[in-house]
Amino acid sequence: MTQPPLPRVLIDQNTIASRIAELASTIDRDYAGQGELILIGVLKGAFVFLADLARRLTIPRQIEFIALSSYQDGSSSGAVRLVMDLRRSIEGKHVLVVEDIVDTGRTLHYLIELLKARDPASIRACALVRKKTRMEVEVQLGYLGFDIPDVWVVGYGLDYAEQHRTLPYIGVVEPRDGG
Ligand code: PRP
Repeated sequence: MTQPPLPRVLIDQNTIASRIAELASTIDRDYAGQGELILIGVLKGAFVFLADLARRLTIPRQIEFIALSSYQDGSSSGAVRLVMDLRRSIEGKHVLVVEDIVDTGRTLHYLIELLKARDPASIRACALVRKKTRMEVEVQLGYLGFDIPDVWVVGYGLDYAEQHRTLPYIGVVEPRDGG
């Protein structure tokens, strides 16, 4: 039986690994001596990036997850809602939100505002990829892996209709093919 072709490689495995090592050393440096850092992964897409980044860090750190979803209907296109909350308080803690992708920026904007209201000692965001030309909402990224063009990316946690999340690289699909 013939398998459908794999998505075209946009960012290969080695390039991702090297960039994550660089990001981790920068984060290690920035938070050195500041106590424990709470890494908050945004489900589902960030689970692979968070796992690799968290294991590269050497500073004291803890892992939490949060899940959000966007409405896409006529009346509230792009509105974001909380699907699964954190299990602990972040009050007085240094927080780093870890995202796989920033597209319009709506998810991250919503999340940062939500978490700021809980009085963390500091809050920054780290995204693996960003589609700069698609951004509709201004969000400050403390750390960014790669700027990418406006193409549908999959792999390394990212999906198209739940397909391809476990590809070890970031690839490109044409949505009309179903990936
Ligand atoms: C993706 C991604 C971000 C969000 C970015 O999540 O993980 O959270 O979209 O888009 P935005 O910048 O336009 O808000 P998705 O809703 O696909 O859920 P998933 O992570 O569970 O696949």
